[in-house]
Amino acid sequence: MKKLYIETYGCQMNVADSEVVAAILSDEYEITHAQEEADLILINTCSVRDNAEQRIRKRLRELKSYKNKKEHLKIGLLGCMAERIKERLLDEESTLDFIAGPDAYRSLPRLISESSYKQPAFDVMLSTTETYDEIEPVRCDTNGVSAFISIMRGCNNFCTYCVVPYTRGRERSRNPQTILREAQTALDNGYKEVTLLGQNVNSYHWEDETGKVTNFAQLMALVAQLSPQLRVRFATSHPKDISDELIETIARYPNLCKYIHLPVQAGSNTMLKRMNRVYTREYYLDRIATIRRLIPDCAIATDIIAGFCGETEEDHQATLSLMREVGYDYAYMFKYSVREGTMAAKKFEDDVPDEVKSRRLEEIIALQQELSYQSNLKDVGKSFEILVEGVSKRSDKQLFGRNSQNKVIIFDCGNHQKGDYVTVTVTDCTAATLMGVER
Ligand code: SAH
Ligand code: SF4
Ligand code: F3S
Repeated sequence: MKKLYIETYGCQMNVADSEVVAAILSDEYEITHAQEEADLILINTCSVRDNAEQRIRKRLRELKSYKNKKEHLKIGLLGCMAERIKERLLDEESTLDFIAGPDAYRSLPRLISESSYKQPAFDVMLSTTETYDEIEPVRCDTNGVSAFISIMRGCNNFCTYCVVPYTRGRERSRNPQTILREAQTALDNGYKEVTLLGQNVNSYHWEDETGKVTNFAQLMALVAQLSPQLRVRFATSHPKDISDELIETIARYPNLCKYIHLPVQAGSNTMLKRMNRVYTREYYLDRIATIRRLIPDCAIATDIIAGFCGETEEDHQATLSLMREVGYDYAYMFKYSVREGTMAAKKFEDDVPDEVKSRRLEEIIALQQELSYQSNLKDVGKSFEILVEGVSKRSDKQLFGRNSQNKVIIFDCGNHQKGDYVTVTVTDCTAATLMGVER
């Protein structure tokens, strides 16, 4: 067997895709975690912000000198950056033997055999139907406890700032039977948690030959029923589709985790409109109120973009006030980065100066620190069932795991190990973690 080394950037979808790629190549290649052993190096890339692409370009420059020393090594680029820049990349990055876009992974065996350093190959065709549905992923970069399952691909939302609809193509859902089979296999292999993945999972929609429809809430219920020992998470959901039915389903099943990642992006209606998010601040807050009413112990996380085109100080204040009003438990926060080809790049001016973007982002981060700390303080004294994921980075006498709300809790090992469910009482916290003792 030849050896394959895969390096994955970007979102969880990319992590899941790398596992599909490993499966597609598994007749000829086995995974290695040591680059020196590799006959083939694959870089699975992200284009969501310019700094993501710059990091990957830097890595490719490093690999160029490495490759000069290795005669038979092949290097291929996968993922969103391959799709965004296409053949042009082969001229720009002479390290590459081939590139394959997110819907072209079944052609990898052919691309690898056809390509050579001087004669690179590529396939960046997007598909309206590809979901890799019958491929059982090779779990390669995993803790053995938690597995990703991709349930849909692509995105139709065209938020004006976002490159994903261009790199991932149109939205399509995967057959629920193959999703259930993959979850069952994970369970049989000792996994205790699955995360159902898509750019917008709550618009999941499957219609079988008889016309019977499965929506996301129904799919979640089906996966939850596989075993009460299997925790189920999902990412990411768009506020426009967070239905009462879905919230009620999460409330009903104890193993559906009480954590909803509901990206808001901005707090003012002017910004939301310009971003084409298709909801208002009021609608978003109403959805949050419904979550709080039906699932009182639910954690809520978000994504926020600072300094989008035309953002005024007042718009920025609206983001801060919305954050306070919701009291997010966690947030992913970014500075707006123009992406070539998007509606925002064509129609609006990137007119917020970089220093202003940075200052606003810092204010957003500082506020979130405070909110996360407050959220964690409320947990001190409470007990949670946590799923142990591994040994703590700080001490090998301690383990860490997550509660249903997705918060990390550190506690003394006792007789426990990875994959155990343990009930822990929280004794102390920082803004980032909870410390606890076994109850
Ligand atoms: N499909 C997911 C998000 C995918 S991208 C969703 O809609 O929730 C992850 C996050 O990156 C987005 O939520 C957004 O906050 C951020 N992002 C996307 N494009 C960006 C850009 N051009 N500049 C800065 N942040 C961006
Ligand atoms: Fe991008 Fe919007 Fe689609 Fe998310 S929903 S991937 S932010 S276009
Ligand atoms: Fe990046 Fe593509 Fe995911 S752009 S965030 S890897 S969908």
